Amino acid sequence: MNKKKYFIQTFGCQMNVYDSERVGYLLEGEGYERAKGPEEADLIFLNTCSVREKPAQKVYSALGRFQGLKKRNPRLLLGVGGCFAQQEGERLLERFSYVDFVVGTKEFPRLQTIVKNLGNFGKRQTAIRLEGRVDPYGSLPLYSPRSKACSFVSIMQGCDNYCTYCVVPFVRGREVSRPSREILEEIRSLASGGVKEVTLLGQNVNSYGQKPGGEIGFVQLLEAVEAISGIERIRFTTSHPKDLSADLAGAFGRLSKLCEHIHLPLQSGSNRILERMNRGYTREEYWEKVQALRRNCPEISITADLMVGFPGEAEEDFAATGEMIERVQFDEFFSFKYSDRPQTQARLFPEKVPEEISQRRLEEIQSLQKKISQQRNKRWEGREVEVLVEGRSKTSAEESTGRNRTRHLVNFPGKNFAEGALVKVQITKALAHSLRGEALPRGDLNVVKKAP
Ligand code: SAH
Ligand code: SF4
Ligand code: F3S
Repeated sequence: MNKKKYFIQTFGCQMNVYDSERVGYLLEGEGYERAKGPEEADLIFLNTCSVREKPAQKVYSALGRFQGLKKRNPRLLLGVGGCFAQQEGERLLERFSYVDFVVGTKEFPRLQTIVKNLGNFGKRQTAIRLEGRVDPYGSLPLYSPRSKACSFVSIMQGCDNYCTYCVVPFVRGREVSRPSREILEEIRSLASGGVKEVTLLGQNVNSYGQKPGGEIGFVQLLEAVEAISGIERIRFTTSHPKDLSADLAGAFGRLSKLCEHIHLPLQSGSNRILERMNRGYTREEYWEKVQALRRNCPEISITADLMVGFPGEAEEDFAATGEMIERVQFDEFFSFKYSDRPQTQARLFPEKVPEEISQRRLEEIQSLQKKISQQRNKRWEGREVEVLVEGRSKTSAEESTGRNRTRHLVNFPGKNFAEGALVKVQITKALAHSLRGEALPRGDLNVVKKAP
């Protein structure tokens, strides 16, 4: 008999990517196999995001697309999960008659029961409890890695910071650390499956261990991962500037597997706006942390998230953001226009910034950063870097692609490099968003332990 097939579409952040993987394994445990596309699926799962208006709207357009498939195949099961599902809950079933089930951010381990019940009784269901479930991952089986190169590992759930613009605390719940024993067991299992690089995930990884569930601190956790043989690279995201300790800055100089990159969202360069955002740091404090990181690890690349058009952002606030971009010299950043989100405080703030002003500000910081990135990337030209091969390049099957330790994308000729190989590459050209190079002979045997 043919196996049933599932298709998962994921929106949002790496945490959703991780959750989707785990949902996939769960369904495989139920006898499903991955479909190549939604058309051949018996079950479609949309893992959604609600952090800004745009990703939330994408959910509606995806639902519209899948409605047609559902008409053609009434036996197709259509489920919505993740942050937007958590936010909307029952309303999704009311509004979309063709949606079969809704699961929140912590209830997806119940997917097996939901799917069985739907099969047996055909009853549409919602599961969106948020609190009281310490660890949605603990009850799931360990999995064998899909990639030989890198894997995500969730180390915490939720967020307690309540930045005034942010919906995450409302849709992911209170901050809970995953027990270190479970995290380390998962990483050991990934390593034995050949994975070389792990990225530890959470909305605020630096407060790992200070919340229910965690029994060791974040730096201790990093040290324990460093001791796992087979793992060659450690990354983490996201760190909150207010919780970045001197100990963690020091770890970048001390732990050989910890890669020389940090994602450290700044959001705004204006103290007045940072305060209204409830970020818990000033621009001066942010700058001090950047200097501490660079003192401990001169090669470190720093990326960030920035937001323009936060309510009340005046031209001088925006100018302060520009100054910080010039001063810090980020390697890259993600930038967004502020949008109102349900339940947040900022949605009630007056002085909303008009769309055309936000758009202009967004374009301004993006073009400023493009120049800085291009300039900064030049530092790699002529140097040898270690690349972890992730596969063939997007633009040419004759080329391999991967990232160096500072997380710059590197493309180089040659199609025979295995996924997960560590290759030494000499950089020949720096572009705005990637580097080009040539693999050095026998490069994959010649692993460099520290940056570049
Ligand atoms: N935990 C991370 C970020 C999570 S959300 C942190 O503390 O930085 C990812 C990014 O989305 C944020 O850094 C922010 O820049 C952006 N974002 C969040 N809410 C937003 C909103 N209401 N409007 C626009 N951008 C938003
Ligand atoms: Fe949202 Fe702030 Fe928590 Fe990040 S730290 S998830 S921006 S509330
Ligand atoms: Fe989006 Fe939820 Fe991540 S709102 S950014 S998917 S935590």
